[in-house]
Amino acid sequence: MTARLDGKIIVITGAAQGQGAAEARLFSAEGATVILTDVKVDEGRGLASELGANFLSHDVSSSADWEAVMAHVVSEHGRLDGLVNNAAIFERNRLVNTTEDQLRRMLDVNVMSVFFGMRAAVPLMTDHGGAIVNISSVAGLRAAPGSFAYGASKWAVTGMTKTAAYELGSMGIRVNSIHPGFIDTGMLPQNETVRENMAGIVPLGRVADPDEVARLALYLVSDESSYSTGSEFVVDGGITAT
Ligand SMILES: NC(=O)c1ccc[n+]([C@@H]2O[C@H](COP(=O)([O-])OP(=O)(O)OC[C@H]3O[C@@H](n4cnc5c(N)ncnc54)[C@H](O)[C@@H]3O)[C@@H](O)[C@H]2O)c1
Repeated sequence: MTARLDGKIIVITGAAQGQGAAEARLFSAEGATVILTDVKVDEGRGLASELGANFLSHDVSSSADWEAVMAHVVSEHGRLDGLVNNAAIFERNRLVNTTEDQLRRMLDVNVMSVFFGMRAAVPLMTDHGGAIVNISSVAGLRAAPGSFAYGASKWAVTGMTKTAAYELGSMGIRVNSIHPGFIDTGMLPQNETVRENMAGIVPLGRVADPDEVARLALYLVSDESSYSTGSEFVVDGGITAT
């Protein structure tokens, strides 16, 4: 039996830890050639060598870094089949306390990255099609009280996904967004009481393991999702059900 991603060349940003690392492990196990990228070089290199994959030091807010990543993909593989725009930062702050610097930093890392990544991926997918998965959030579907800049950035990811899907559909390039709820990674507060309170507002009564998002990302980069594009895929234990 063939694996679900056999022969596919896939770039995952923010792959040194958390959901990106879970995706790198799962996609590798399903036969993909995965290129992991991150600003956390030691962790990224460590995971890549464990998987027999390549790691590239990559600041997703830099268009020059994106050019270097795609130049590597072209010279090593000659094509790209999948891109997961996963890297992001999270900061809490209400609207009235949000500084211009804070919002610009959030937009640089969480929004410009997705723009640079999609724009750079298209020429490498034009001949044969491909799948782009942008990691948004439940904060990109509804209000994000207390996380104004983060919410703004994730709504931008949701919106860019839809327009890109329209523009790229005729090339066979599918673009979808994933909207995680509370996922057990470095991005969640480490305080046990806070985490228990978070779990308490989830209908399924718990935060998620990063693998539970990775399995959805696997579906979206694989050919199994061949008729899905421009859509929002929610993995949140039910928190947006109300
Ligand atoms: N954890 C959650 O509860 C949650 C919920 C909703 C959405 N998300 C989204 O899921 C995605 C993955 O986050 P995670 O939960 O694995 O968090 P994480 O903090 O564990 O991982 C984020 C990764 O992105 C990398 N990164 C940060 N800035 C970067 C930059 N400028 N260039 C390159 N890499 C950079 C970090 O080094 C890290 O490895 C993010 O887009 C996040 O916004 C997370």
